[in-house]
Amino acid sequence: MSMNLNAEPEWNWLQGRTALITGAANGLGRGMARKWAESGAYVVIGDMDETAGRIVLEELRRISGKDKHHFVKTDVTSWESQVALFKEAMEKSPGKHLDVVVANAGIGESDPEMFLPQADLKLRKPNVKTIDIDLTGVIYTAHLAYWAFAQPAPKGDSLSSGSPRHHSLLLIGSMASLKYSIEPMYAAAKHGVLGLFRTLRRPHYFLKFDRNNPESSIKIKPGLLCPYFVDTNIIKKDGVKALPDDVELTKIEEVVEAASRIVLDKEGGKAMMVLTHSMAKVMGKGKNKGGIVEIGGLSGKL
Ligand SMILES: NC(=O)c1ccc[n+]([C@@H]2O[C@H](COP(=O)([O-])OP(=O)(O)OC[C@H]3O[C@@H](n4cnc5c(N)ncnc54)[C@H](O)[C@@H]3O)[C@@H](O)[C@H]2O)c1
Repeated sequence: MSMNLNAEPEWNWLQGRTALITGAANGLGRGMARKWAESGAYVVIGDMDETAGRIVLEELRRISGKDKHHFVKTDVTSWESQVALFKEAMEKSPGKHLDVVVANAGIGESDPEMFLPQADLKLRKPNVKTIDIDLTGVIYTAHLAYWAFAQPAPKGDSLSSGSPRHHSLLLIGSMASLKYSIEPMYAAAKHGVLGLFRTLRRPHYFLKFDRNNPESSIKIKPGLLCPYFVDTNIIKKDGVKALPDDVELTKIEEVVEAASRIVLDKEGGKAMMVLTHSMAKVMGKGKNKGGIVEIGGLSGKL
């Protein structure tokens, strides 16, 4: 069923839930962290950037409570580092479990010269850091999310009552997950994220029903968010060098709204683009809300 973009998301669901967001020290992840903290969620940030991460942590603690939120210095390319992040997040969560995981940490093209002709014709090993962070890191995060979500609900936790328990895994793709890519390795990584999403939304990955113990059945709702260019460090630092100064950018608050709609959707398996308003009008064929356009539900064409 497609989403009603004009209905208010059910923000209440976030009250008291724990969300782990990788790469939330800056940009889009930081936007999600702030919005969800305002809605009553406990947020755990896993990021390499300790200085920015601690600043965001203070912001979150000012929004809602000193002990609610945590920062864990994490390198998503390291399995051990992500295991430590998930274990600490679960340990510090009031219910000792996670409700939402966002695989958001990412960089732009790590070797922009890789496919450009080299004047000296020398062979050199490409720098595939983009694949390590934007794809391998995401696979580790998704795998750990499945492990964390499947942990038994703590006894007496009112938020975990009811079966199946709902959990959301949001994967951050890009327009480069679709056909609009200008950077080869970034596109390869983000197409990989699309492939992961397409697979995880198949029903046997989606719903874990325990016949012997129906009370412990869980529903894992995968989602995919594909923003167009947004004004964050990634487009300044890692450089989409070809981007003209006066290009219209996507609004960060709309990216955060789309992310929240996917996470809060009861059905799951949703994918959304976030575009400039003029692009959304054309590509959404009037079914857009601002820059937000749904691109495929469980039975969608994506
Ligand atoms: N900004 C855009 O135009 C745009 C468009 C489409 C998709 N995206 C995607 O959105 C996500 C967030 O990017 P952003 O725009 O907020 O950029 P950003 O640079 O502001 O934030 C990315 C964060 O990831 C962290 N990070 C990088 N490598 C890491 C590692 N190895 N381990 C842990 N953390 C690491 C950075 O420290 C940073 O805090 C990325 O996956 C990106 O590909 C961004």
